[in-house]
Amino acid sequence: MRRPTGDERNAAEIEYWNGPGGERWLNRQQAQDALLAPVADVLLGRAAAHPGEIVLDIGCGCGSTSIALAQRVAPGGHVLGVDVSAPLLDRARQLAPQALPLSFVLADATVHRFEPGRADLLFSRFGVMFFADPVRSFVNMRTGLRAGARLVFACWRAPRENPWLMLPLQEAYRHVPRLPEVGPEEPGPFSFADPHRVRGILERAGFGAIGLEPFHLSFDLSLGRGLDAALDTALNMGPASRALDGQPASLRAAAAESIRAALARRQVGETVPLPGALWIVTATTP
Ligand SMILES: C[S@@+](CC[C@H](N)C(=O)[O-])C[C@H]1O[C@@H](n2cnc3c(N)ncnc32)[C@H](O)[C@@H]1O
Repeated sequence: MRRPTGDERNAAEIEYWNGPGGERWLNRQQAQDALLAPVADVLLGRAAAHPGEIVLDIGCGCGSTSIALAQRVAPGGHVLGVDVSAPLLDRARQLAPQALPLSFVLADATVHRFEPGRADLLFSRFGVMFFADPVRSFVNMRTGLRAGARLVFACWRAPRENPWLMLPLQEAYRHVPRLPEVGPEEPGPFSFADPHRVRGILERAGFGAIGLEPFHLSFDLSLGRGLDAALDTALNMGPASRALDGQPASLRAAAAESIRAALARRQVGETVPLPGALWIVTATTP
């Protein structure tokens, strides 16, 4: 398997995103992009990328935000999508229209040698919470930015504010063992939930004008396709999917029944809306 040369402390995340995590994301790429489209919209609005700009899209996954950014910076600009996952980047390369000014690199953003002082915008949709050493990572990413460049990214707020991710997990826990306890600052989807921590990381990495805007939205797990589709989302995404990984079929089936019953209580017509909450983080380089 292809792996980027990365910070050794990122090894477990790099394995995960080239293994089961990447596989699940890939299998659900279209649904995942549809589910997260409202987040892309708000981020792209804040980023206000325009023709001629150079953009770094960190943890770009299958590249949907990279493509959207490339459409905005053409002509004359360029987007570099950076990710540690070979299978997700393969998909990104397949999906990227040839005519767009867009390239991808398999690299760990903590250590990748960015072209110095060039980019106007550092962008990420949920791709910056997986670093073992976030200060080192943001210091490194800042080397790729010019003075006065913008930073715009989305990260999740606390688990209790994200029932769309946590309700399936709580139901799964009725049947399967709990995941190993993860400290609030350990790499993972919720490692940037604490706004003071995020502000501190960015300050120490040399960013200024730091803003964290709370953003609440409703995620329809079914994407308008009813309870079975919502169950499929719940079983194959987020922490519930990690908890169910490798469990015996009988326990997975029992967990699925519990999750289905919980989702049925939230069903409204063909939709199953659940609340979610994130931070829209903005900053600039001095
Ligand atoms: C939650 S996914 C988000 C993917 C994409 N931004 C999206 O919104 O569809 C997180 C992404 O971050 C990537 N990632 C994790 N650690 C990384 C690192 N150290 N450097 C670059 N990318 C990383 C993963 O491979 C994965 O594609």
